[in-house]
Amino acid sequence: MTRRTIRIAMNGVTGRMGYRQHLVRSILALREQGGLDLGDGEVLWPEPVLVGRREHALRALAQRHGLTEWSTDLDAVLADERTEVYFDAQVTAARPDALKRAVAAGKHVYTEKPTASGTAGALELARLARDAGVKHGVVQDKLFLPGLLKLKRLIDGGFFGRILSVRGEFGYWVFEGDWQEAQRPSWNYRAEDGGGIAVDMFPHWEYVLHELFGPVTSVTAQVATHLPERWDEHGKPYAATADDAAYGIFTLAGPDGPVTAQINSSWTVRVHRDELVEFQVDGTHGSAVAGLRGCRAQHRSATPKPVWNPDLPATGSFRDQWQEIPDNADFDNGFKAQWELFLRHVVRDEPYRWDLLAGARGVQLAELGLRSSAEGRRLDVPELSL
Ligand SMILES: NC(=O)c1ccc[n+]([C@@H]2O[C@H](COP(=O)([O-])OP(=O)(O)OC[C@H]3O[C@@H](n4cnc5c(N)ncnc54)[C@H](O)[C@@H]3O)[C@@H](O)[C@H]2O)c1
Repeated sequence: MTRRTIRIAMNGVTGRMGYRQHLVRSILALREQGGLDLGDGEVLWPEPVLVGRREHALRALAQRHGLTEWSTDLDAVLADERTEVYFDAQVTAARPDALKRAVAAGKHVYTEKPTASGTAGALELARLARDAGVKHGVVQDKLFLPGLLKLKRLIDGGFFGRILSVRGEFGYWVFEGDWQEAQRPSWNYRAEDGGGIAVDMFPHWEYVLHELFGPVTSVTAQVATHLPERWDEHGKPYAATADDAAYGIFTLAGPDGPVTAQINSSWTVRVHRDELVEFQVDGTHGSAVAGLRGCRAQHRSATPKPVWNPDLPATGSFRDQWQEIPDNADFDNGFKAQWELFLRHVVRDEPYRWDLLAGARGVQLAELGLRSSAEGRRLDVPELSL
């Protein structure tokens, strides 16, 4: 077995996503398992270079995990010809500029979503990467969730018949920050810093809906800023200028005709569900409810026949009438699973469709959702091309 090292500049690893999911659960997890076995006698060994703005934070992080390389000088890391991949998990507003610099330096790029703050910027990035001939990928982690993988299995197995509709419920209460600390960074609640739940979640819904049911062809959305004031990391009050809830209706071009999808996204909702996100899919032959990990289904032959009568109490638990879908597989962390596919794409040229153009579709859906809300009308979602 030979070992090939791949040097990855990782920017934004002091943040929530960059640290936990990308550094610890993906890259360091790959090292703990001995590297990525490419299956042909070679093992890929990821060598992260931690990049960021605060030297002391990077040094502490590197020391905690036994890493030797960190830098506050992105351009120097990009100028180093040993660096092959640039990864970005910075705040959204800082991303496009850094990605452009990496592409200009000839690096392959892998990035968190959203890729830019608007469709034009997201498409520009995709064109720049194409013209530079570098490989590019965008995180679409929800596709690798066990619950959604089981839902996909039901779809591929023909369980639903003709799919009619999808209803998604995402969210939880994000504390205001005064009497209890907020559990998400404050920039998420300031539009001027790239915040807002539509910008954050619609890119996810775009690829989930697209990959499972069909491309999104129209959007109707209503967004709201339910809590106009919050308290930041230093306990200081600030004006929450970004939307903290987005109520969306999407038309999808399914293989058997249009599908209606409705998704509520909210940071101002208290959870009365089994998981933080759940999708119910109803089809002519069966229905399913999928969450992050679980998935339950009900076939038409096992569907009860409730009769509406408010004078009588419900006789049984509707939830108990669903069947749990078995795992039938070991599910790895979704971020790590996607990293592995991207790295194989880089070093073995294996196909990879979650690229910057796919990322631009997510940005477009967020942009059109916000416009739909502002203008109070349904908008078509045009197909993007480079
Ligand atoms: N895939 C997902 O499920 C998912 C979930 C949450 C967030 N995200 C995305 O990941 C990115 C990071 O989100 P997060 O929640 O980790 O944020 P965070 O605030 O915890 O981390 C932000 C990172 O960016 C760095 N940074 C660079 N320039 C900055 C600036 N000018 N101001 C503040 N920080 C700056 C910070 O040092 C930090 O390392 C966002 O683009 C977000 O949309 C993705």
